[in-house]
Amino acid sequence: MRIKNYLKPVVGALLIIFFILTTYYYWTNSEDYVSNIFPPQVDNDLKFFSKNVCENVTKAEVFSDWKKINEQALQLNERYSSELLKKASFVIEQLKKNQQIYTQSQGEGQQFQYYSKNLKECVNRTKISKLELEDIKNKTQQNIDQEQLAIQEISKSISTHQNRSKVLKGQQLEKQQSLDNLLDTLKGLLDQKDRLLRSYKNETELEEYQKELEEKIYYITKEMAEQEQNITASKQMIQEQQYKFNEINQKFEKVQNQLHDLKSLEQYFSQDDLYIKEDQPIIEVIQEYSKVLADRRENLKILAEKEKDQIQKQKNIQALNEIIKAQQISYQMYSSLKDIKFHCNQDDCIIGTSLENFKLSDLKEEIFKKQTYFNQIYSEKQQIEFILQKLMQLLEDQNSYHQINKQKLNKLIENQNFLNVTKNKSEELSKLNKKYDELEKQRKQLQAEVDNLIDQANDQQHQIENEVEKYNNKQITIESLKLDRNQKLNEKNQELYLQVKDCIKQKKIYENFEQKQSNLIEKANEIKAVIQTEVQQIESILNEYKVTYKDLHLQQNYDIQSKKDL
Ligand SMILES: *[C@@H]1O[C@H](CO)[C@@H](O)[C@H](O)[C@H]1NC(C)=O
Ligand SMILES: *[C@@H]1O[C@H](CO)[C@@H](O)[C@H](O)[C@H]1NC(C)=O
Ligand SMILES: *[C@@H]1O[C@H](CO)[C@@H](O)[C@H](O)[C@H]1NC(C)=O
Ligand SMILES: *[C@@H]1O[C@H](CO)[C@@H](O)[C@H](O)[C@H]1NC(C)=O
Ligand SMILES: *[C@@H]1O[C@H](CO)[C@@H](O)[C@H](O)[C@H]1NC(C)=O
Ligand SMILES: *[C@@H]1O[C@H](CO)[C@@H](O)[C@H](O)[C@H]1NC(C)=O
Ligand SMILES: *[C@@H]1O[C@H](CO)[C@@H](O)[C@H](O)[C@H]1NC(C)=O
Ligand SMILES: *[C@@H]1O[C@H](CO)[C@@H](O)[C@H](O)[C@H]1NC(C)=O
Repeated sequence: MRIKNYLKPVVGALLIIFFILTTYYYWTNSEDYVSNIFPPQVDNDLKFFSKNVCENVTKAEVFSDWKKINEQALQLNERYSSELLKKASFVIEQLKKNQQIYTQSQGEGQQFQYYSKNLKECVNRTKISKLELEDIKNKTQQNIDQEQLAIQEISKSISTHQNRSKVLKGQQLEKQQSLDNLLDTLKGLLDQKDRLLRSYKNETELEEYQKELEEKIYYITKEMAEQEQNITASKQMIQEQQYKFNEINQKFEKVQNQLHDLKSLEQYFSQDDLYIKEDQPIIEVIQEYSKVLADRRENLKILAEKEKDQIQKQKNIQALNEIIKAQQISYQMYSSLKDIKFHCNQDDCIIGTSLENFKLSDLKEEIFKKQTYFNQIYSEKQQIEFILQKLMQLLEDQNSYHQINKQKLNKLIENQNFLNVTKNKSEELSKLNKKYDELEKQRKQLQAEVDNLIDQANDQQHQIENEVEKYNNKQITIESLKLDRNQKLNEKNQELYLQVKDCIKQKKIYENFEQKQSNLIEKANEIKAVIQTEVQQIESILNEYKVTYKDLHLQQNYDIQSKKDL
């Protein structure tokens, strides 16, 4: 290819510009460069701004249309090539400066990376430690939670057992109360039984005894009936004898009186002053004696009236009175003499002569006869009296035997009564025994139920004790888990604290470097801005001088190829 001479400076300038632009392009697009200077974010907490700057630079649309620039370059003329070269050299100079900064930052960048890595690692470690801490917290908490859950279950179980135990105890108390009542009843029955047993008799014996009693009662009743008949008979006989006795007694008294009267007469007529003769009738003697007494009385009466001497007069009156008395006796004798029966009639027959013939010898004979009769009647009376006495004795004996039998009967009836009561008691006893056996059966059943309830309650109590032991063990486990956890957490926290402290140190170092880098970036940015301005100016120059160099077209193609190769 041929290149005209005047075109040589232009071509040179273009080549330089091309170099500048490629370098610039390379620089603006190099991520490595950027990332070298500005390492990727270490932590959310650390702020990195380098990327912004980088982006800002890349965004510059200086080389948006390389083709257009190329075309414009063709229109450049010599006149402006020197200015372009000047500007190009300035840009190169600036790029060199930038290269210097780059080299510096490269060097420092490694150190920076080292610190950054340290910081990152520290942060990583811290993060890991934090996670580990969390993990420990989580895991230990999980263990504790598990144990606590187990404790809750145990508590629930305890509560259930306690409930069951309470219910069982309630049931047990209720049953015990019934049992106690039953025991009281049983005790009462036992007392009753004892009481009844004391009067209990063998039933066969009781029957025999009852028969015996009935027999005895039968015979005694029979005998008593006979006795009563005999008593009635005795009473009747006594009555008969009594009647007889009364009769004979009457006769006896009469005869006795008669005998007495006769004896009085005999005694009277035996008086001396009567001068009675054996063969003279008594009635005559009495009449004579009465006349004598009457004369004497007349004389004495006169004498008494005449007598002056008081003493003699008194004597006379006394004598008169005696005579009067004698007269009276005489009269009595006369009367009783007249009373004497002179006719025989049955056994009361007396004197066999008349009153006019009745002499003293008759009287004596009569008294003898009367006495004999009296003796006979007396003897009869004595006999009846004896019989009566015997009968009375018999009645008395009969009555007394009857009385004895009556007492015996009463005793037998009493025994029968007692026997009935005893029989009743033995019936009661057998009833009581039956009842007792029944209640005893109930008691055994109830006792078994109570025992069962007690067993169940004890079982619940054992279970509660077991659960409580488990509970306590779990509590101990939890305590030890908590201790262990606290220890681990403390250790971890200590580690973490040291790490954070280390990280802060690392961060300070890092930040120092960052500051340095930031300064470099600022510088680089300034250079960038300058280059940008220059490139813009170059662009505007190129625009201003739209030179059309058709032969540059080839060159342009070549350049594009070169750029692509880059
Ligand atoms: C990047 O450009 C934006 C505007 O496009 C600007 O606000 C920002 O400050 C720039 N950042 C740097 C580091 O130059
Ligand atoms: C940070 O830790 C993660 C794992 O947690 C690991 O994959 C990564 O490589 C670590 N980074 C550094 C710089 O140690
Ligand atoms: C801790 O446990 C919770 C749930 O209990 C879980 O969501 C979390 O991921 C756990 N963290 C670790 C670090 O294991
Ligand atoms: C225990 O009994 C009470 C009532 O007596 C009841 O309210 C409660 O739920 C019961 N608890 C258990 C654990 O069975
Ligand atoms: C009652 O007594 C009789 C003999 O006295 C005897 O044979 C019988 O076995 C007794 N019965 C009872 C129940 O004791
Ligand atoms: C009753 O009188 C009769 C005849 O005198 C005699 O045999 C019998 O033993 C008497 N009975 C009693 C119970 O005294
Ligand atoms: C005793 O019992 C018998 C029959 O068991 C009866 O005939 C009798 O009247 C009773 N006696 C009394 C006093 O109850
Ligand atoms: C037993 O005696 C009681 C009173 O002590 C009485 O009530 C009951 O009826 C009597 N039973 C018989 C079978 O006699």
